[in-house]
Amino acid sequence: MSDACPARKKLYIETVGCQMNLLDSELVVGKLRNEGYELTDDVEQADTILYNTCSVRQHAEDKVYSALGRIRHLKTLKPDVSIGVLGCMAQKDQAKILKRAPYVDVVVGPGQLGRVSELLDLAKSEGKPQMAVSLPRTGGSRDTVTASFAEYDPLREPSMRPSPYQAFVRIMMGCDKFCTYCIVPSVRGPEQSRPPATIIDEARILADQGVREITLLGQTVNSYKHPEGPGRTARLSDLLERLHAIDGISRIKFITNYPNDMTDDLLQAVRDLPKVSRYLHVPAQSGCDDVLKRMKRGYTVKLYDDMMARIREIIPNASVSSDFIVGFCGETEASFQKSVAMVERWRFKNSFIFKYSARTGTKADLLMIDDIPEEVKKRRNAELLAVQDAISLEDYRTFVGQTVEVLVEGPSKSSTARELGPGEFGQLTGRTSCDRIVVFDGPGRLIGRTLDVEIDRASVVTLFGRVRSTQVVGSRMANLVG
Ligand code: 5AD
Ligand code: SF4
Repeated sequence: MSDACPARKKLYIETVGCQMNLLDSELVVGKLRNEGYELTDDVEQADTILYNTCSVRQHAEDKVYSALGRIRHLKTLKPDVSIGVLGCMAQKDQAKILKRAPYVDVVVGPGQLGRVSELLDLAKSEGKPQMAVSLPRTGGSRDTVTASFAEYDPLREPSMRPSPYQAFVRIMMGCDKFCTYCIVPSVRGPEQSRPPATIIDEARILADQGVREITLLGQTVNSYKHPEGPGRTARLSDLLERLHAIDGISRIKFITNYPNDMTDDLLQAVRDLPKVSRYLHVPAQSGCDDVLKRMKRGYTVKLYDDMMARIREIIPNASVSSDFIVGFCGETEASFQKSVAMVERWRFKNSFIFKYSARTGTKADLLMIDDIPEEVKKRRNAELLAVQDAISLEDYRTFVGQTVEVLVEGPSKSSTARELGPGEFGQLTGRTSCDRIVVFDGPGRLIGRTLDVEIDRASVVTLFGRVRSTQVVGSRMANLVG
């Protein structure tokens, strides 16, 4: 018998979009690697090419359609190559993808990701494209539609995570808020919370594998609720308390929050549990009541302001970031200025600002006119960003001269060495509990540890500093640098 191994199939994957998509890609790659695939960075070398897609804005979809255009020739050169479109765009566009790119082999929605490898095989054996998508929101009873968005959170092998120290843990799937501009409830299906025991078990296993930081994911993560026996419901605050008790985990984050569900029990949990990051991402989307109403966000500026006041009162040192959409249908200059005023009023750590992008299948697209010209959207985007950036810079500068506690994540992007050996010196990056990025020099063995860094310089998005030479590690003193 020959001991030569069969050549491993080469997998190329590109991921567009949010952290939920990053996690989905990690899980799909993990499964395919178990089945004998190996990853390649070179699309030309790949036997299987996957795009895990996003539908939140037109731009994200355009990116994937043009990537598909660019690889068309590969299918002619190597007819055996398999091409797959996964995720939100697969669910939204379905057969339209095969019409625009008939050389695609599999189209797999976010609720069907467990079937990717089976569908790749089927496309080969049957010689025709395969599509697996979930039901539309109006496609049956709530239970039937929910069941069509299958949970896909298999256990992962440590080597398959992008970082050995950080991991995403999904606690919820889908969304029921139906903001009028948003495609997510259609493509990710009904809101479902995973059982607490499953989440805790997953986090324990991750901790045993060396993970130090977990980030809990949900479209409206603080709406998490799961029944636990008669009259009891587990909330996000309960989950945080249970996760906090896991040895090995030193930081817990959660994204993305919905303003209406920012309850005091959650804020108190963030205040009282030291491992929980003092960072809250709570999108406002607009600072104007008329716009919020048309967006069907379900809250007023007053509710958001009251929530911010509660956050500042309960956790005074927390940082808060937000999302804003500019140029939504009917947004007047006066409405837009109210978003500017909101950024100035609450001085967010940072804001993600987006130009409104009409999405087929949403209420806004059906019932409203996308009436703000592109140049106006662009100008408002730049203006709001400039206001936010000035605030972020002022805020970051207040840290100069201070010492902050940093969980070290890895080599900084600007570092030439992406892989830094334990003894090698390089530029490292990490974050404070308030999610501020800190860059400093140090040896690779600091990665995964929590240490003090003295800040000597600040930019809009980064603090730069030096490691305080002597650090307490567990119960012993150790000299970490040098
Ligand atoms: N156009 C522009 N931005 C959008 N977002 C969601 N839908 C749209 C859209 N149609 C933004 C929101 C959300 C973030 C993830 O994306 O600000 O919080
Ligand atoms: Fe979209 Fe609104 Fe749900 Fe967020 S809360 S995912 S913006 S529908």
